[in-house]
Amino acid sequence: MRTMAKTQPPHPGSVPIETLISADEIAKRLATMAGDIAKTLPENMMVVSLLRGSFVFAADLIRALHNTGNHTLRPQVDFLTLASYGRGTTSKGTVEIVRDLTEDVDGRDVLIIDDILESGRTLTFARDLVMGRGAHSVKIAVLLEKPGKRKVNIQADYVGFVVPDHFVVGYGLDYANYFRELPFIGTIPSMEK
Ligand code: IMP
Ligand code: MG
Repeated sequence: MRTMAKTQPPHPGSVPIETLISADEIAKRLATMAGDIAKTLPENMMVVSLLRGSFVFAADLIRALHNTGNHTLRPQVDFLTLASYGRGTTSKGTVEIVRDLTEDVDGRDVLIIDDILESGRTLTFARDLVMGRGAHSVKIAVLLEKPGKRKVNIQADYVGFVVPDHFVVGYGLDYANYFRELPFIGTIPSMEK
């Protein structure tokens, strides 16, 4: 019987990661973004953090919102785990619910938070789901956006950084579920060759 060699994904200990956006730059940008969000969002907000990629960003963003000093913003928080299949392949890139929301979003002003806007399928699915359940309004905040990669027409209301078309990891973003713990956004140079 043939045993398949398990390919080990690169890991920070063994592969150099190049910093694209430092932890300091992220923190500064989040403070500005939070200011923008605080100006325009209603008070009755429900944050929907898309898992798994946005958990670090969402955790920092809601604290940055608090630190704006606008304490009329008292976001409630929920999580939605989505998976998209067929990314980068010939398939349609179908999005599915892995774990649903716990809260009722009917009548709520929802802020969807995601790590990165690429094809736009994940965020389109999330937005349509929330609207379909009767949300009063939906806004979208993403940490990163890769321009020129959109397969569906959707825009984020708040964007942290526009990044070049490299595979990025860290600050919640993964490669094979690794690297989420990095406090910065980086690229894996050995993957680009
Ligand atoms: P979209 O549905 O194509 O917009 O893909 C968005 C999802 O793909 C994100 O929530 C990420 O989980 C994942 N993704 C896209 N680009 C990258 C990347 O460069 N690094 C890590 N994950 C990525
Ligand atoms: Mg994701």
